[in-house]
Amino acid sequence: MNELFSKSFFRQSTQSLKEKNLYRSLVSSDAVDAVTIRRGRKKFISFCSNDYFGLSQNPLVKKAAIAAIKKFGVGAGASRYITGNNSLYKKLEKKLAQLKKCDDAIIFSSGYSCAIGVIPALVGEGDLIVADRLIHASLIDGAKLSGARLMRFQHNDIAHAKKILAENRKKFKKCLIITEAVFSMDGDAGKIEELLELAKKFNAILVSDDAHELLTKHTETSSAQAARSMKHENQIHLATLGKSTGTFGGYVAGEKNLIDYLRNFSRSQIYSTALPPAILAASLTSLKIIKKKNPGKKVLENAQYFCELMNLQKPQSAIVPIIIGDNKKVLQIAKEVEKEGLLISAIRPPTVENGKSRLRITFSSMHKKSQIKKLAEVLRHIAGLL
Ligand SMILES: Cc1ncc(COP(=O)(O)O)c(C=O)c1O
Repeated sequence: MNELFSKSFFRQSTQSLKEKNLYRSLVSSDAVDAVTIRRGRKKFISFCSNDYFGLSQNPLVKKAAIAAIKKFGVGAGASRYITGNNSLYKKLEKKLAQLKKCDDAIIFSSGYSCAIGVIPALVGEGDLIVADRLIHASLIDGAKLSGARLMRFQHNDIAHAKKILAENRKKFKKCLIITEAVFSMDGDAGKIEELLELAKKFNAILVSDDAHELLTKHTETSSAQAARSMKHENQIHLATLGKSTGTFGGYVAGEKNLIDYLRNFSRSQIYSTALPPAILAASLTSLKIIKKKNPGKKVLENAQYFCELMNLQKPQSAIVPIIIGDNKKVLQIAKEVEKEGLLISAIRPPTVENGKSRLRITFSSMHKKSQIKKLAEVLRHIAGLL
């Protein structure tokens, strides 16, 4: 190894993370049921998962995946443009387009792959991206990869976004505005309607990352609901199948010419092996269950119950953050909670800004009230000790 890539460079880099309490390590975690995780010999009730409806463990979803494996095998064997385009793709894309009230949709290998494929296909050098300060890493990476100029507005600050656009829009050719329908680390809703107005005024396309949406009318904020009740040609939706749908993959939905363009210009979708047919079959079953059962309502009720017990603000989604600030302290609290048989995430930089480390607690429609009550009791007890 040369000097720059020496063992000591690697060791020092990870050591420096350890000193700042920012080192990440992997723990084997096996799902037992919709809310239970086994680590070694111990079982935990998890409040960390984004599988908001427990569909990854649903018997009908599992059955659909097994049937597809029996019929089509495990892997797709090639990219979609060669022979990997199983007929289930077309069915699932149609359902996803309907879900988003859009003309068409394309599926990617993951939400991350979708962001880094779609953004560089739409903009490049000489173009502008105006994005919320708190957007997800996949969107930032997509923006960087595109070569377009990236400018950030303060979180959900429409006046700031407008100022950036008013001062800069004319200097660039194409323009994207990027936000999230539900912010992944804060759980609050993005200002979709207001940003759509700006997109229209400044001749831009709004990209909303809907990864954490709960997919049901009852659970959306009025802004997201209003935005979704109409078809907007200058909005595209990025989303994932790995969270509420409980399976895997990402997708983009929008106007038909734009989607056809993306099919031809999104490199991460073209130059990658297609998804396993079992994942497509399972996703179709998940969507059917979501439509029939509307489980998003229960998720919000559970999050709300916890917030009432903890005297926290009413939640807008499945995600409830408790900002602690200090990296070490947030790890300590999560460890203490773990000792009581419960799992919550300790989120640190660079996932969140410096000094904003937090506990991220996510709720599922499958949590029982008794489990939520226990978590609130444990957290209150620990807060008293720290
Ligand atoms: C807001 C947001 N966008 C995109 C992604 C990436 O999606 P995926 O996990 O399917 O790659 C995630 C989660 O990981 C996310 O939280």
